[in-house]
Amino acid sequence: MSRVLLDGKTAIVTGAGSGVGAASALRFAEEGAHVVCADIDVQKAEETARRISKAGGTAVAIACDVSREDDVAALVTAAVEHFGGLDILFNNVGIPTPRLGAMLEEHTAEDFQRLVAVNLGGVFFGCKHAVIQFKRQGGGVILNTGSVAGLVAWGGSVYGATKGGVHQLTRAVAIEGAPFGIRANAICPAGMPYTNFMAAGGLDADSEVLTQTAERVAATHPLGRAITAEDCAEAAVYLVSDKAANVTGVMLPVDGGYTAR
Ligand SMILES: NC(=O)c1ccc[n+]([C@@H]2O[C@H](COP(=O)([O-])OP(=O)(O)OC[C@H]3O[C@@H](n4cnc5c(N)ncnc54)[C@H](O)[C@@H]3O)[C@@H](O)[C@H]2O)c1
Repeated sequence: MSRVLLDGKTAIVTGAGSGVGAASALRFAEEGAHVVCADIDVQKAEETARRISKAGGTAVAIACDVSREDDVAALVTAAVEHFGGLDILFNNVGIPTPRLGAMLEEHTAEDFQRLVAVNLGGVFFGCKHAVIQFKRQGGGVILNTGSVAGLVAWGGSVYGATKGGVHQLTRAVAIEGAPFGIRANAICPAGMPYTNFMAAGGLDADSEVLTQTAERVAATHPLGRAITAEDCAEAAVYLVSDKAANVTGVMLPVDGGYTAR
């Protein structure tokens, strides 16, 4: 009897070089998956793959910019060639607005286009090429990273709109894919101060501001602590595993109760 949840499955994780992607790649490997670690920063993806190998798991690293369809198509092909098929695609990449706290009118056209291209375009390309492969094989699992910012208006207007789009795409893939044995769900994290995400939005990762941000975020959660990448990875493992065989079209908040208020 298999004691692990993803025994022998092949999983692609995008954004595997950091944060939720790195934590999920490590957990998927612990559960027996062969993991394709994809990231625009291939050195960071290689580091995650090395950590998996060192722990006795199986992983490869592939450079991929999810906003480029050719890269995403090649990523799916590479996973199939390397491991003989694809069972799971975790479309996890997301970028913040380049200046955290920017109001709607402070976004430039370039800000808008980049957020849409990466956050929504990347998930679209991932879903599209996974679905093509899954229909050939007779099924598969998609997990997307949405956000609390796509469930409720929370700030980060353009970012939130891209995440709302991710949620709607997830529901659509769940409905279209169900007759083909394809499941699609999303995790919706609340603010995670300890990944590199806020630094990508211009927050100084070493500063007092980071601690204050963590305290401020935690105080908004009924459970009273900030969300970690590991919290998200645990939710991800469940949703991509056969334990969730009859769960599809779900947007699962990982938010310490924030959206239940
Ligand atoms: N951290 C938060 O506060 C927070 C809150 C809610 C949702 N999220 C979502 O969680 C997901 C993961 O965020 P994180 O906090 O782990 O972020 P992170 O910045 O720590 O990691 C993101 C990874 O994605 C990679 N990446 C960026 N652009 C890419 C591209 N075009 N193609 C391929 N890889 C690319 C980066 O190199 C990095 O390794 C994102 O979808 C994000 O929107 C984050």
